[in-house]
Amino acid sequence: MVITRTIGQLTTTAVGLGCMPLSLENNLGRDMGLQTIHAALDAGCRHLDTAWAYYESGKTPEANERLVRAALESWDGPRQDVLVATKVGHNRNFTDGVPTWGQDGRPETLLRQGKECASTLGVDTIDLLYFHRPDPKVPYDQSIEAMKTLADEGVARMIGISNASVEQIHIARRILGDRLVAVQNQFSPVYRSTQDTLDECRRLGLAFVCWSSLGGYRRAVDASKFEPFRKVAAAHGVSYQQVVLAWELAKGPNVLVIPGAHRPATILDSLKAADLVLSDEELRLLDGDPADCTEGDAR
Ligand SMILES: NC(=O)c1ccc[n+]([C@@H]2O[C@H](COP(=O)([O-])OP(=O)(O)OC[C@H]3O[C@@H](n4cnc5c(N)ncnc54)[C@H](OP(=O)(O)O)[C@@H]3O)[C@@H](O)[C@H]2O)c1
Repeated sequence: MVITRTIGQLTTTAVGLGCMPLSLENNLGRDMGLQTIHAALDAGCRHLDTAWAYYESGKTPEANERLVRAALESWDGPRQDVLVATKVGHNRNFTDGVPTWGQDGRPETLLRQGKECASTLGVDTIDLLYFHRPDPKVPYDQSIEAMKTLADEGVARMIGISNASVEQIHIARRILGDRLVAVQNQFSPVYRSTQDTLDECRRLGLAFVCWSSLGGYRRAVDASKFEPFRKVAAAHGVSYQQVVLAWELAKGPNVLVIPGAHRPATILDSLKAADLVLSDEELRLLDGDPADCTEGDAR
């Protein structure tokens, strides 16, 4: 069974593929990246999430977008049915040997990166383009005005914002109107402090896309937070990751998930979350007490 959800005017699968791990540190190489994306698409996934900034040391920006494009061009299925979302406004620094992330929300950067994304993806118009992360050095409305220009110029069909507060959602909506269709925020069993933005998105009819929905692939998280999910998983005979994703999807009809994967097996398992129906009692158990579930940024 494939569950679909709406992002703006487009319908896509509720479970997408977060492509970031396929080109960041410890990726398993280009061939495995292509195989992973193909496996997801062959299994019915129609939502790929990438970004300008998903590249490792020694590689150029857009490495991930290039991989996504290569995967789509070498895939036999209906390319036009796949929603590709990308992001602008983030960059990476490798100077101290440990990769870090930087923000650049200056309008000129966003305009340039948006056009580069379209060119790298090989499209005239990007399906969904996010402003990746607020830049404290740039007033938020100035960054959002640049995103509006990208929509006005046809570089992006729909605009999203990421790592946004409720207040920033309102600013973006005031400037973008109906062109704002999605908010992509961190949300998982170990990071629930964005629940207010999820609720506001539901109220406003915006899609809410959970990032690092499984807790993130690089950071050791408090495994005890997943215990209830493991218990429910054992009862259903499925992986606890499927239970996590099904719990997130049950948070509202506007919620989508984009679990990351380094290899086909994990995304194929995650896609099965769409088949998993959790009872009200199970959902209440999993909701638990979110008070202490606010671990830091899982990137
Ligand atoms: N907007 C933002 O600022 C932002 C920030 C971070 C991430 N993102 C997006 O969110 C996506 C997901 O986040 P993420 O990749 O950090 O973390 P994640 O989805 O929370 O976790 C990915 C990890 O979970 C494992 N996994 C996935 N499905 C599994 C399954 N069914 N069973 C067992 N293990 C499973 C993967 O294992 P394997 O490694 O073994 O495949 C991978 O290591 C990213 O790819 C990116 O597109 C956005």
